[in-house]
Amino acid sequence: MAIIFDESRKLFRLSTTNSEYQIKVDDIGLVIHNYYGRSTCDTDMSYQILSVDRGFSGNLFENRDNRGRSIDVLPQEFSGCGVGDYRISSVGVVAKNGSRSCDLRYKSHEIIDGKPEIPGLPSVRPYDDDVTTLVITLEDKVIGLEAQLFYSVFADKDVITRHTRFVNVSDKKIHLEKAASAMLDVQFGSWDEIHFAGRHCMERQMSRNKLTQDIKVISSKRGMSSHHENPFVILCDHGATETYGDCYGMMLMYSGNHKIEIEQDQAGSTRIVAGINEENFSWCLEASDAFDTPEAIMAYTPSGLEQLSHIYHNIIRENVCDRKYMEIKRPVLINNWEATYFDFTAEKIIDIAKTASELGVEMMVLDDGWFGKRDDDNSGLGDWFVNEKKLEGGLKRLSDEIGKLGMKFGLWFEPEMINEDSNLFREHPDWALVDPDRHPTMARNQMVLDMSNPKVEDYLFNCISKILDDANISYIKWDFNRSITNVYSKNLPNKKQGEVSHRFVLGTYSLLERLLNAYPNLMIEGCSGGGGRFDAGMLYYCPQIWCSDDTDAIERLEIQEGTSFGYPVSTVGSHVSASPNHQTGRSTPLATRGVVAMSGTFGYELDVTKMSEEEKAEVKEQIKTFNKYYWLIQKSDYYRLVNEEQAEVYKAWEFAAKDKSEALVNIVVKKSQANAKIKIIKLRGLEEDAMYLLEGTDNMMSGAALMYGGFAINIAMGDYPSAQLHFVRQ
Ligand code: DGJ
Repeated sequence: MAIIFDESRKLFRLSTTNSEYQIKVDDIGLVIHNYYGRSTCDTDMSYQILSVDRGFSGNLFENRDNRGRSIDVLPQEFSGCGVGDYRISSVGVVAKNGSRSCDLRYKSHEIIDGKPEIPGLPSVRPYDDDVTTLVITLEDKVIGLEAQLFYSVFADKDVITRHTRFVNVSDKKIHLEKAASAMLDVQFGSWDEIHFAGRHCMERQMSRNKLTQDIKVISSKRGMSSHHENPFVILCDHGATETYGDCYGMMLMYSGNHKIEIEQDQAGSTRIVAGINEENFSWCLEASDAFDTPEAIMAYTPSGLEQLSHIYHNIIRENVCDRKYMEIKRPVLINNWEATYFDFTAEKIIDIAKTASELGVEMMVLDDGWFGKRDDDNSGLGDWFVNEKKLEGGLKRLSDEIGKLGMKFGLWFEPEMINEDSNLFREHPDWALVDPDRHPTMARNQMVLDMSNPKVEDYLFNCISKILDDANISYIKWDFNRSITNVYSKNLPNKKQGEVSHRFVLGTYSLLERLLNAYPNLMIEGCSGGGGRFDAGMLYYCPQIWCSDDTDAIERLEIQEGTSFGYPVSTVGSHVSASPNHQTGRSTPLATRGVVAMSGTFGYELDVTKMSEEEKAEVKEQIKTFNKYYWLIQKSDYYRLVNEEQAEVYKAWEFAAKDKSEALVNIVVKKSQANAKIKIIKLRGLEEDAMYLLEGTDNMMSGAALMYGGFAINIAMGDYPSAQLHFVRQ
């Protein structure tokens, strides 16, 4: 049983194959976090919670004679506020009488087979996995607020998902000012926090910092999960490496304003609280109303960062993304954006598609500029009607022509946006998020639609459906090219304006859900100026997300590596683009661009009609290579192979089949050096005593030799050379 309740000890044990999580209800109804780590062989870990009287850490009334037991230091499952725990609160309230205190105690619990859905929000899908859910209901009897804590244990995946449902069980209004999804108190240890920070064109760069008595905040208030701070953190042993050390992961399945706070307290224990960012958030709960938070995906491993990544890769591929993509091969695509930008005609797109189809490309994606008055990025957003001046014969003709080439057709949209210069804005200025007494803040000369307004959602559903019905479209690239400001909905009363940011996200999720229900074979690729909304929430709807607007292969090494800590390669949109690169001006060999783009959902984004015959022949080979390794890349275990010392000079990474039958090693040299050192690549994930043949050679080595001795390579000269090595078990 994945969840066991021991009535006599008031102890819950949540077990996965390689981890155990304990919760204990104490004598005054506090829900104590007892333990999260390796299996304890049925030991109640509360013996670790010692009684210490700490100055200025007060005691709840029932504990007034027990001064060693203060909620300011006790590890808990979900902190209240205003009653003596001075660490990060999980909840913020304003009760009818103005009180801002909340004291949550155990009320009841329930253990359910499977996993309930979260209304209106994406959540990790149980499918037919071994999943059990524990719901512990906490209650503040004074204000009549319940917090139902949901824990779903994915036993075989080593994952516990969490979310909170707040219910107003009083007969008066309660304002929620903060509503965390999950909290984790880790009592002991010397920890580093790792998060993934960045900017447009350089997303998800690992930032690792030793924790001290302080609060670290990873957040976004941009209305999107953002290029700047991804909603994923790792807490790892100070000495943890790829293969060693305790690691905890907390990932929020949410695409809007998020906040993950990490605090090391006076006693050296560490608290993580994850949820919606409370800035710009206030939710009015009328009597018997409920509010569900987004889900958090939590994992623990004692075996280092690589194993933590594998846990997240497995759950995202199999239970966050639609599982059908584990079996359906996604097409190698060509996108016209960097080939033409806004300057194209139907004939030009057909030319690109024709050449690409001869090379083996399977889908043509028409990017921005096909609709309304859209010859640059200043106008047209919202007018989702084909521009027949540019595309003679419309999308029907274009998709038919592309179909005749044996290719699928995909189309770009940016549904949540509107230009001032658009028919939509002229007809419905009140559909944009605009603060009534201010000029809107512009970005890329566009504004953001009010996705909290059901009329906006219906309009977009109808426009997109019409386009999908009229032409043969298998794929949508769903873009989002600015951060949100002026969060004010003309559709909601003043007192509900604090709900708009979250209702916006719910509106977007609802639109995605409706479209996928209406068009079950449609594939949606997420995008937000590259990877500004690369999160588990979007991955629920989109099996792949354009990883970055930076297509430079060398920069992509860093971006894709940072992304790999939490997200599998199967979700990473990656294309071969032109050289010199449009973002950096750097020239890289076509082969290297191919190797880097193959660590993702492979495609091209350049004018293939301008390529030499030699280059075209190389592209043909690349596509064959990618198709040959497709399932290995999609389903295998991913290994980051280079240590920090070497990372300046080259990067190496590996896809090793789960059954250890083969491995593909990729190497890209970032800095060519005269008289360079031999590069020793130590493989991982092989069978020690099996023999592996390096394909295309007679070299046969044991798994142990390749893993512990390593493979020696003296890679070619020149700028940014690369290699791909395929080892096959004999
Ligand atoms: C940003 C995307 O990331 C690009 O790939 C492209 O689609 C542009 N938007 C189009 O405006």
